[in-house]
Amino acid sequence: MAKSMIVTGAGHGIGAEIARQAAAAGYRVGVLDIDAEAAGQTAQSLPDAVPLAASTIDSDAIEVALDAFGTPDALVNNAGIVRFTPLVDHSEADWRAVVEVNLNGPFVCGRAVARRLIAEGRSGAVVNISSINGIAPGPNSGAYSPTKAAVIQLTRQMAIEWGPAGIRVNSVAPGIIDDGMSAPVLADPEVRAIRSARTPSQRLGTAEDIAKAVMWLCSADAEYVNGHNLVVDGGVVSTVLAGMPRPASIDGVADES
Ligand SMILES: NC(=O)c1ccc[n+]([C@@H]2O[C@H](COP(=O)([O-])OP(=O)(O)OC[C@H]3O[C@@H](n4cnc5c(N)ncnc54)[C@H](O)[C@@H]3O)[C@@H](O)[C@H]2O)c1
Repeated sequence: MAKSMIVTGAGHGIGAEIARQAAAAGYRVGVLDIDAEAAGQTAQSLPDAVPLAASTIDSDAIEVALDAFGTPDALVNNAGIVRFTPLVDHSEADWRAVVEVNLNGPFVCGRAVARRLIAEGRSGAVVNISSINGIAPGPNSGAYSPTKAAVIQLTRQMAIEWGPAGIRVNSVAPGIIDDGMSAPVLADPEVRAIRSARTPSQRLGTAEDIAKAVMWLCSADAEYVNGHNLVVDGGVVSTVLAGMPRPASIDGVADES
């Protein structure tokens, strides 16, 4: 029987590409999104996909979606939101909204799927989408960075609690991705050029880059990978010291000045 996967937030952006690669790999895909129209559009474009209109933070709606789709072999907690604003101006409503979707959502969906897998005596894989913001906070990212750090820790906690039941849980931390929620940021040509040039791999990331990492973590090739946060960022997060100068004489390079 074909394996099955539910991808949350699969109506747009990175999630839609994960759903596409999953379908291409032979998974029956549950395209879950709060945006029912977008879920329908993604599902319609794929061979064996089912639209699931639900919010990840509504546990009743998630149970209804799981009843309709069945317990998936893999769950990708991809749905996320961001509210760019300085902390001093951050409203509590926005803060709570980001915490709800980015942190509570993966808990609600992960718990629901794990409960069913355990009850059915089945193994499975969960991938949570974190961010390099969860490692190196971006200024004015508000609740986004703390929630993405928490997702990395939630991943480890799920891994140690569910590993004995045969459920592997890992996270993927995308870097600067030329898709989805980054589209408005990268619409500025100057910002786009700087971000690309400052990436060691000398290009922006794509939804395909992220989906490939997710597919690998869900595959049997990653059977011994559990509790890991896989950074997929072309090297961006490793550049923290790149802007800190040292005298050329100490670095052992010729001083051109
Ligand atoms: N695009 C990037 O540069 C980037 C970088 C790092 C991490 N990420 C992460 O990747 C994931 C996908 O982001 P994206 O860029 O594709 O964003 P996106 O805005 O294009 O897509 C997010 C999807 O989630 C859905 N969604 C939002 N709230 C939901 C809810 N409560 N229940 C169900 N669906 C909901 C939206 O309708 C949308 O379809 C997010 O977790 C994001 O934090 C993105």
